[in-house]
Amino acid sequence: MKVIETKQYQELSQLASNYISDKIKKKPNLTLGLATGGTPKKTYELLIEDHKNNGTSYNSVTTFNLDEYIGLDPENANSYHHYMNQTFFNHIDINRKNIFIPNGLALKMEQECREYEEKIKFQGGIDLQLLGIGANGHIGFNEPGTPFLSTTHVIELAPSTREANARFFDSIHDVPTHAITMGIASIIASKEILLLVSGEDKNAALKRLLTEEEPTEDFPASILKKHPHVTIIADKKALKGIG
Ligand code: F6R
Repeated sequence: MKVIETKQYQELSQLASNYISDKIKKKPNLTLGLATGGTPKKTYELLIEDHKNNGTSYNSVTTFNLDEYIGLDPENANSYHHYMNQTFFNHIDINRKNIFIPNGLALKMEQECREYEEKIKFQGGIDLQLLGIGANGHIGFNEPGTPFLSTTHVIELAPSTREANARFFDSIHDVPTHAITMGIASIIASKEILLLVSGEDKNAALKRLLTEEEPTEDFPASILKKHPHVTIIADKKALKGIG
């Protein structure tokens, strides 16, 4: 795992945006795995700027999002469909038919999970997967204890994850209890991974990722040690006291 340290969040986001935009320039039909949450927000903003100022085109890019809450309508302001449209897709020239986000309203969830995996495979796999990390080490919504061999599945969110995400909702009671998420095996199958880590809240998780020896299912992000092409961009606060 290659670690790039930045002074703060702004610089982290600038590097991440440059990284992604360079990949698209090299491979215009890139298959991009995307994350939501607070960490990549500025990266999306800078990618939009880059699209507007430098003409980086998403016309041939395909995207697969990591996850979606179960039970939230795509129009719901807290759904990841809504987040992605508002934060990124509405502002770039991506072809709507090339956008894939798990359907949190699917009537047959098992089938939805299976079909999501098939769509990724049909596309030839993900070239670059953007990731954030939970304070408990989750990647996607794969909470501690999720099998490393898991593919897209339904998961019950950990109480700490619901608490962390309650900041986006009116109250914790409104945070869905379940989500559909790409599995750990699905994430690890990506050809390349870009993990963004910002702030003191993530310091302990990053320390554990960078220092502990063997991957363990108790700490999902630890599987990244086994991937041959992982780049971590982390700011000073996230890296405090490490190394
Ligand atoms: C989001 C996702 C999550 C987040 C993680 C960190 O699609 O899959 O794993 O990346 O919860 O979230 P933030 O960036 O809000 O700290």
